[in-house]
Amino acid sequence: MISLKYLYLSLLSAGAIAAPQAGHCRCRPHDACWPSHQQWSALNDTIEGNLVAVRPLASVCHAADYNAQACNTTTELWTNSFWRSSQPGAGQWQNWEAWPEHHESCYIESPRNSRCGQGRISLYSAKVRTASHVQKAVQFASAHNLRLAIKNTGHCFLGRSLAPESLQILTHEMKDIQVVDDFVPKGAPKGKGAGPAVTIAAGVQLSELYNAVAARNRTVIAGSSHTVGAAGGYIQGGGHSPFGAWKGLASDNALEFEVVTANGTLVTANSYQNPDLFWALRGGGGGSFGVVTRVTIRTHPEAPVIAYNINITTSGDDPRFWKAFSEFHAALPSLNDAGGSGYYFGSPNLPLGPNTSVSSLTSLLFFPEKTDQNEIAKLYEPLKSKLQQVGGVKVDDAAIPFPSVNSTIFTVLLQEGGTDTTGSISSLLVSRLYSKDLMLSDNGPGRLATAWKSLRWDPYSSFIGHVVAGPAVAASKNIDSAVNPAWRKTVSHLLLSRDWQWNATLGQQHSVIKNATEVEIPILRSVEGASHMGAYLNEASGYEPDFQASFWGPNYPRLYRVKQKWDPKGLFIARKGVGSEDWDDGGLCKIKS
Ligand SMILES: Cc1cc2nc3c(=O)[nH]c(=O)nc-3n(C[C@H](O)[C@H](O)[C@H](O)COP(=O)(O)OP(=O)(O)OC[C@H]3O[C@@H](n4cnc5c(N)ncnc54)[C@H](O)[C@@H]3O)c2cc1C
Ligand SMILES: *[C@@H]1O[C@H](CO)[C@@H](O)[C@H](O)[C@H]1NC(C)=O
Ligand SMILES: *[C@@H]1O[C@H](CO)[C@@H](O)[C@H](O)[C@H]1NC(C)=O
Ligand SMILES: *[C@@H]1O[C@H](CO)[C@@H](O)[C@H](O)[C@H]1NC(C)=O
Ligand SMILES: *[C@@H]1O[C@H](CO)[C@@H](O)[C@H](O)[C@H]1NC(C)=O
Ligand SMILES: *[C@@H]1O[C@H](CO)[C@@H](O)[C@H](O)[C@H]1NC(C)=O
Ligand SMILES: *[C@@H]1O[C@H](CO)[C@@H](O)[C@H](O)[C@H]1NC(C)=O
Ligand SMILES: *[C@@H]1O[C@H](CO)[C@@H](O)[C@H](O)[C@H]1NC(C)=O
Ligand SMILES: *[C@@H]1O[C@H](CO)[C@@H](O)[C@H](O)[C@H]1NC(C)=O
Ligand SMILES: *[C@@H]1O[C@H](CO)[C@@H](O)[C@H](O)[C@H]1NC(C)=O
Repeated sequence: MISLKYLYLSLLSAGAIAAPQAGHCRCRPHDACWPSHQQWSALNDTIEGNLVAVRPLASVCHAADYNAQACNTTTELWTNSFWRSSQPGAGQWQNWEAWPEHHESCYIESPRNSRCGQGRISLYSAKVRTASHVQKAVQFASAHNLRLAIKNTGHCFLGRSLAPESLQILTHEMKDIQVVDDFVPKGAPKGKGAGPAVTIAAGVQLSELYNAVAARNRTVIAGSSHTVGAAGGYIQGGGHSPFGAWKGLASDNALEFEVVTANGTLVTANSYQNPDLFWALRGGGGGSFGVVTRVTIRTHPEAPVIAYNINITTSGDDPRFWKAFSEFHAALPSLNDAGGSGYYFGSPNLPLGPNTSVSSLTSLLFFPEKTDQNEIAKLYEPLKSKLQQVGGVKVDDAAIPFPSVNSTIFTVLLQEGGTDTTGSISSLLVSRLYSKDLMLSDNGPGRLATAWKSLRWDPYSSFIGHVVAGPAVAASKNIDSAVNPAWRKTVSHLLLSRDWQWNATLGQQHSVIKNATEVEIPILRSVEGASHMGAYLNEASGYEPDFQASFWGPNYPRLYRVKQKWDPKGLFIARKGVGSEDWDDGGLCKIKS
């Protein structure tokens, strides 16, 4: 069985620092307006002693802060994403913890005597436990004109959960989960229950959610990670799932949000109350409209699953690999329409020995509510005969039956005792949503193959394809949701990452970013044209050009209006989020009035 180890890597910060206009900046540590010690203490009291001063994780390994024992623990836990989620002084990706343009970083690898800069790590963190704590922290940030950052797990690939010189709200400690048989949204007419659901507090992580519903013999639409947050950036950004073809996006399954808005009020957003906010929170992106304190999502009945694995291999450098790539994509609509969703991983340049390499594409799709292996195997026959015609292609395939969605998730996707390895990684994603229509058109798959073949494929580099849309996502197109309408037409969300080491110079980092932005993203976009389709806002470049159109398409103008209504002063600013274009890259100074 193949282990789907997500090769998710991430990025570094750049972007032009616009000249701040006087009077349009947040209050910063050296300004007279910065809260006094007494004022911070008063905040601490209102949130029951849960305020902490924050330093980057690796500070205990450097200079005056060096502490042998603490540094030893930090080193051992460095790549553990559970631990990183819980730490105010961490994100999951090194490049967003650092602030290289300001020469501030705190890499664990750098020499012990080197100074540890704060980077983009918040100065204080409110480790909130209740909605009331969230309200107090929001009111404090607003009253003192502070840069506010909302961190749940810190997984964001675009650097949205960290912000320099900020007060952080850390939602990690909010872990309540309630599974109910019939959820009645607030304000719903009598008898209008929405059916079986689960209400989760802001800090619940995916593996916790999956376990809680499985204990009740139910399942939910959520992602492939132990530690990504279920209620934060994931669902607010749309949220894709390996069972998307069956039940839609995570946000399509949202029934209600409870959210603290910019003026510190706790409001409910659902189909009956504040529907504009409900619309925006379903796909408008995390960190932009308020602090969600809990969310209720539908649960679904358990079902048996057949997983189908097909491996396509050619010798390295054989151009027929790209012909096979093209045939594989041409087959995706029929597999997806038959209820299959899941992933594929490609390694165009995989060294096997000193002088040998192969090109490989490994796919694993899940077919829920299926028990007949032959029925699924038949779906792959047309693809297999096409691959045979290509020639030079080795095909291995197997059907793997599972008794339940839960067992599929915990056997294949989230293996026991696993974690999502993160930490000493800096990289940049480039990605694009591709349509079913493209794959069905005469030369569409061929054009896709030509574009992806033209990218640089270093040894061991890979791409990941997400077959996470299709039938139920397409059928949800009338749901009142802000997700990019391109999702409803998508058959694959395809990405790769470009990374660098901690010691890459600023110039080297910028050259990777520049090439991704000016060469590689345009190649990805050229397949269907820049104005068609888009990119998934949670798994895209942190420097996505024209991000408003890429991430939201025609929904952007309405999202911007909803943002102005609920957050007119821009308290909630997240990188490449709704309204972020009015601020500089750090969200510190307004560049547009
Ligand atoms: C290993 C891995 C696997 C992944 N798998 C999937 C997948 O299967 N499907 C998928 O769709 N995506 C997946 N992603 C992408 C994931 O959806 C994003 O990284 C997402 O931003 C994570 O949300 P978070 O709340 O956990 O992270 P954070 O980085 O803490 O937050 C992300 C954004 O949401 C905001 N935010 C967080 N909590 C709140 C809140 N309570 N209220 C308001 N704003 C909030 C933050 O301010 C930030 O802007 C994966 C990522 C990784 C690293
Ligand atoms: C496909 O490749 C994976 C990873 O190398 C392997 O674990 C799996 O057994 C292969 N599947 C088949 C059907 O051979
Ligand atoms: C907040 O109060 C707690 C409990 O009294 C204390 O341990 C903590 O150090 C305080 N935080 C700050 C930033 O002073
Ligand atoms: C931490 O300390 C233990 C016990 O002394 C040692 O075995 C281990 O190798 C150390 N780990 C690191 C990362 O230094
Ligand atoms: C907060 O904003 C909401 C929506 O604009 C408004 O209804 C409410 O009265 C405001 N509350 C306070 C305390 O200002
Ligand atoms: C779990 O739910 C499925 C689908 O509804 C049902 O067929 C099965 O009998 C249930 N199992 C248990 C142990 O209740
Ligand atoms: C690999 O190629 C090099 C140079 O062509 C040659 O010297 C070497 O012997 C080869 N190694 C193997 C294991 O074939
Ligand atoms: C879910 O699946 C895993 C892996 O098969 C299993 O260990 C666990 O007990 C299952 N949970 C429930 C509640 O059935
Ligand atoms: C830019 O990207 C292209 C496509 O991946 C690649 O061929 C080229 O080598 C890259 N250039 C630089 C300078 O990195
Ligand atoms: C960075 O450090 C690694 C060792 O950790 C070294 O191999 C590499 O050459 C260094 N790269 C640069 C750009 O200095």
